[in-house]
Amino acid sequence: MSFVEVENVFQSYGARPILERVNVTVNRGEFISIVGASGCGKSTFLRLLLAQEQPTRGSITIDGRPPAQEPDRTRGVVFQRYSVFPHMNVRDNIVAGEAFARSFGRLFGSERRAAQERADAMLERIGLNHVADAYPATLSGGMQQRLAIGQALAAKPLILLLDEPFGALDPGTRLSMHDFLMHLRGEIGMTVFMVTHDLSEGFKLGDRVLVFDKPRWDPTDPDAYGATVTYDFDARNRGIPFQTIMEETHVLRPV
Ligand SMILES: Nc1ncnc2c1ncn2[C@@H]1O[C@H](COP(=O)(O)OP(=O)(O)O)[C@@H](O)[C@H]1O
Ligand SMILES: [Mg+2]
Repeated sequence: MSFVEVENVFQSYGARPILERVNVTVNRGEFISIVGASGCGKSTFLRLLLAQEQPTRGSITIDGRPPAQEPDRTRGVVFQRYSVFPHMNVRDNIVAGEAFARSFGRLFGSERRAAQERADAMLERIGLNHVADAYPATLSGGMQQRLAIGQALAAKPLILLLDEPFGALDPGTRLSMHDFLMHLRGEIGMTVFMVTHDLSEGFKLGDRVLVFDKPRWDPTDPDAYGATVTYDFDARNRGIPFQTIMEETHVLRPV
């Protein structure tokens, strides 16, 4: 049995199909990039992995079990923006990430000091120890996203879910975030699902690139059918057929 198994998953909102017949298996430690046209259901897929929603049909298991519906330690998530708590300083954001996933509330005394020491070790790792006492609003976009990733990782999740995490960053910061994420991944060996708008980013960072697209397409009624995984590329081999993806899928179709 694979670490993550998505079997024949369908998701509809009301009468509108969003995802249909999605089948994906992922091994522990794999980095899965997800690309697809805007609105095709990529974030919906992540919400299903988070069990924030239940699929209309089909099943999902993580480590042999359906994902827990309460937030727990299995999954950490980072969005494009605003994942961190603005009213907490950098160190406390990391402490909160760990505490949240363990469902303990405020910490006191020696417990709190121990959590702060763990937070400082994480800040060292993500290169933010020099701003431990600063508030997120005073940080650059790249630093805020590093903090968001550190916060998610503080809970030691089995899976890290990234929803266009670098989409709001300038190109230079993006590149340094790529290095950061790859370095971190080498250290931690985590399983990652990353949605991105940027195909080359998907191929650079991912072991595999899943393309979500609509195999059936009615030009008079674009919402008639849902999307599924139309390609599952092995990105570890170089010479990826970008051209094929662009020509044969709707990834870059203007919407
Ligand atoms: N809770 C919801 N209720 C109804 N429609 C939704 C809901 N969430 C998302 N949608 C719709 O489902 C489609 C897929 O959304 P989403 O997963 O966010 O796409 P993507 O992340 O690929 O851009 C969109 O058309 C969106 O408007
Ligand atoms: Mg989305």
